[in-house]
Amino acid sequence: MGKKISKIPKTEGIKYAGSKLKLLPYILELASKTKAETVFDGFAGTTRVSQAFAQTGCRVISNDISVWSKTFGICYLKNKRSKKFYSEIIEHLNNLEPKDGWFTEHYGGSNDDISSAKLDGLKKPFQIHNTRKLDAIRDEIDNLNLNEIETSVLLTSLILALDKVDSTLGHYASYLNEWSPRSYKNLELKVPQLFETKKEHEVFQGDIFETIEKVEVDLAYFDPPYGSNNEKMPPSRVRYASYYHLWTSIILNDKPETFGKAKRRKDTSDTKAGSIFEEFRQNENGKFIATEAIEKLLAKTNAKHIILSYSSGGRATAENLFEILENAGKIIDFVKVDYKQNVMASMRWTNDWVKETEKKNQEFLFLIEKN
Ligand SMILES: C[S@@+](CC[C@H](N)C(=O)[O-])C[C@H]1O[C@@H](n2cnc3c(N)ncnc32)[C@H](O)[C@@H]1O
Repeated sequence: MGKKISKIPKTEGIKYAGSKLKLLPYILELASKTKAETVFDGFAGTTRVSQAFAQTGCRVISNDISVWSKTFGICYLKNKRSKKFYSEIIEHLNNLEPKDGWFTEHYGGSNDDISSAKLDGLKKPFQIHNTRKLDAIRDEIDNLNLNEIETSVLLTSLILALDKVDSTLGHYASYLNEWSPRSYKNLELKVPQLFETKKEHEVFQGDIFETIEKVEVDLAYFDPPYGSNNEKMPPSRVRYASYYHLWTSIILNDKPETFGKAKRRKDTSDTKAGSIFEEFRQNENGKFIATEAIEKLLAKTNAKHIILSYSSGGRATAENLFEILENAGKIIDFVKVDYKQNVMASMRWTNDWVKETEKKNQEFLFLIEKN
C-alpha cells in the first residue's frame, strides 16, 4: 500500500499554498491502482497534478475557480505548438524597453529604500527594475494579438518568471520588510516546460459544483482549500483569490481599483464571498459548512474512483471527514505523508487515524470507490 512510483513526470508551477508537488508520487501510485484513463482534477491550482496525469497518458479535465489556473491549464494541456515557436516571441519580450505603467505604480519598489517609499511608503512585492519590464511585456502580449492558447503560454511564462524574482513569503497578501535576495535578479522569461500530448484535454474555470455536472470520468482528484482551524482568523487570510490577486491582474490586465497595504484587487476584499470550502463557520446544525460541501461534492461526482486530499489543520475535522467518506463509498486505500519528516506511512483504515490528524504538517490521501 502507498508505494512511491519511480518515474514521476516533470511538472512546473508557481509557489502556491497547498501545491501537491511533493505528493505527486503518491497520487500517481494510488491512481495506477484504478487503471483510470480519464481523470478530473477538480481544484487544479498550479495544474501540477493535471500536468502529471496528462504525461502518463490520461485524458485530463482540469478545473479551478481561479483564472490563473485556467491560464496554466490551457498552457500545458491545450498547446500543440513547438517550443521553438515560443522561444522567438519570448526573446522579443525579454528585449523590450522597460517602461513605467500600472504595475510599477502599484507593485514596484526602489532598492535604495527598503520600504520602497518612492510614492506611497508601502512595502512592495517586486523591485522597480522588474515591474518596469513587467509593464512593457504585459502590454506587448496584448499587442501581439495571438490566440488564447498562445497567449496563455506567454502569460504562464511571465508569471513563472515573476515568481522567481518576488519579495514575498509565497503569496501576495503581504510583502517582506527587506528585499529578498532573488528580487535583485532580472526578470527573464523562459519557454514553459511544454510536453507533447495526443489526448484532447479540457480546461474549465468554474465553481466545482457547476463543473461537476458536466464531467464523467474514471477518476476524480479533489484537493479543496481546507480553511484554517483558527476560529479567529479572518477568512481573507486563507482565500486564494486574495493571496494571488496579482496573478489575476496580470492575466486580465484590467488595472482594477485596489485597496489596503498589499494593494489587493477591490474584488478580493473581505466583504466579498469566498469559496464555500474556505468557509470556517458551522451551520445552524453545528456542522462545518466546508465539510458539508465536501460531502455534497463526493455524492455528485460521476466517477468510479475518487482520490481526496486532506491536510491536517484543515477545517474539515477528521471525525467529520471519517463519517463522510464512509458514506460516500468504500475506502480502498489510504496514505499519510508527513511533510516535516518527509516520510510516508501507510496505515490501516480505522478510526485511529483521527488521532494522526491532530499532528501538524500531515497530508492524507484517500482512494474511494464510489457506492
Ligand atoms: C489546495 S489548492 C489546490 C492545489 C493543487 N492541487 C496544486 O497542486 O497546485 C485549492 C484550489 O481550490 C480552488 N478553489 C477554491 N474554491 C473552489 C471552488 N468552489 N471550485 C473550484 N475551485 C476552487 C482554489 O483556487 C485553489 O487553487
